[in-house]
Amino acid sequence: MAKILIVYYSHGGNTRKMAEAVAEGLREEGLEVTLRRVAEVEMDEVAAADGLILGSPCYFGNMAADMKRFLDESIKLFGKGELEGKPGGAFVSTGGIGGGGELALMSLLAGQLIHGMVVPGLRRGGHLGPLAIGEPDDRVRDECRRYATVYANLVKRLSA
Ligand SMILES: Cc1cc2nc3c(=O)[nH]c(=O)nc-3n(C[C@H](O)[C@H](O)[C@H](O)COP(=O)(O)O)c2cc1C
Repeated sequence: MAKILIVYYSHGGNTRKMAEAVAEGLREEGLEVTLRRVAEVEMDEVAAADGLILGSPCYFGNMAADMKRFLDESIKLFGKGELEGKPGGAFVSTGGIGGGGELALMSLLAGQLIHGMVVPGLRRGGHLGPLAIGEPDDRVRDECRRYATVYANLVKRLSA
């Protein structure tokens, strides 16, 4: 069974709730999921995972500093290409429309693409990944689950 690691930062709990919704969806698709606050994750655990999904609040149109620090530290995995070819993904909680949520999503995805990871897009809904304003509602929870399904299909295709 593929092991997927979700790494997130959340100060107020909105991003954590999205992480939990994505995790629930992935488990329903039969994947093994570990949720880690970014402050608690070890790079060995990241290297050992079959897939990685990153979640962050939007801070000043970008990911939160803790997530950027995590990405910077992931340079340890870059040399040997330990994430190359693995499925990546991202979700973001933001404060409002036009607040830079998509920029934050793109930054998270760009970090993963630079590692050589493969990231899914959503044809319908938030194309880059789940993006929520404030407290996740039913629409956001549905989107997180749909993202999990698309992500799980990518995992299955990559491991076929
Ligand atoms: C330091 C800081 C910077 C923020 N910058 C933005 C921003 O640029 N755009 C925006 O829409 N919301 C911004 N917000 C709001 C958060 O993205 C939003 O409240 C989010 O839901 C918080 O997620 P959390 O509950 O997981 O911590 C900011 C909040 C903080 C504390």
